Amino acid sequence: MEELQTYRAEFETITQNYVYLNHAAVSPLPKRTVQGMQQFLEQRRDHGGVWEDTWWQTLEETRNLIAQLLHAKPEEIALTKSTSDGLLILSTGWPWRAGDQILLIRDEFPALYYPWVPLRDQGVEIRWVEPRDGPLLAQIEKALTPRTRWVVVSWVDYLTGRRLNLGALTEIVHRIGAYVAVDGIQGLGALPLDVQKSRIDLLVAGGPKWLFGPMATGFLYLRQEILENIKVRLMGWLSVEDFMAFDTTNHRLRPGAQRFEYATYHFLGITGL
Ligand SMILES: Cc1ncc(COP(=O)(O)O)c(C=O)c1O
Repeated sequence: MEELQTYRAEFETITQNYVYLNHAAVSPLPKRTVQGMQQFLEQRRDHGGVWEDTWWQTLEETRNLIAQLLHAKPEEIALTKSTSDGLLILSTGWPWRAGDQILLIRDEFPALYYPWVPLRDQGVEIRWVEPRDGPLLAQIEKALTPRTRWVVVSWVDYLTGRRLNLGALTEIVHRIGAYVAVDGIQGLGALPLDVQKSRIDLLVAGGPKWLFGPMATGFLYLRQEILENIKVRLMGWLSVEDFMAFDTTNHRLRPGAQRFEYATYHFLGITGL
């Protein structure tokens, strides 16, 4: 009860004015998040970039906290600016071949669909599972073919709240050598997730729902074993090792998923996240 009061105090004003049940769209910001972001803004106003070192520390702390939340390794986490960013890293970077198939569930949030549309030009086919046709996992299993490369699903559906058993899903999908990408934005923060136990290959999420974070914050989890399969298509000055050397002859990529963080960070948002 005491714990509940502590959390409730973070939302003092909004709980007086609303019965707020719309986290699946946009959550309120806790007091401590607003304070942290305010401090960041005031520091920047009064000191410019003098304290930049502390921003980089916050960045790595945030990465570590996300890794802890997911039971992943920090080097498996890339910070992004949205859920879609993570899916776009996969859609642009995977070595697709004509005839490859991507399996999606009908009527999920459109962010799960559009990243694959341009791949049609390369002969990649989008296939649909119809949830109304029966139990979802059985429908997915039936729809898999030797050409399925990725199955892309929401952990929790934005519309119905349907929650997928990710461990059971990966078992089915891995059996045929395909991979599982999960949009976790409607679950993370409200429900526990262990990417090792569930054996998912990739997870994307954003801050502003159940994680109580700012807009334009997000992250990508990429299982270490598949990191090298995904090419860096958005290469920027932060994609390479020793980027602070400002050396254009260095093409060595940063060792982990950080290689996908290609340019100046949204430090304000990351502070809030
Ligand atoms: C399931 C799901 N995925 C993604 C998003 C948002 O995507 P993005 O962070 O890319 O704007 C939402 C909601 O806005 C959502 O409900």
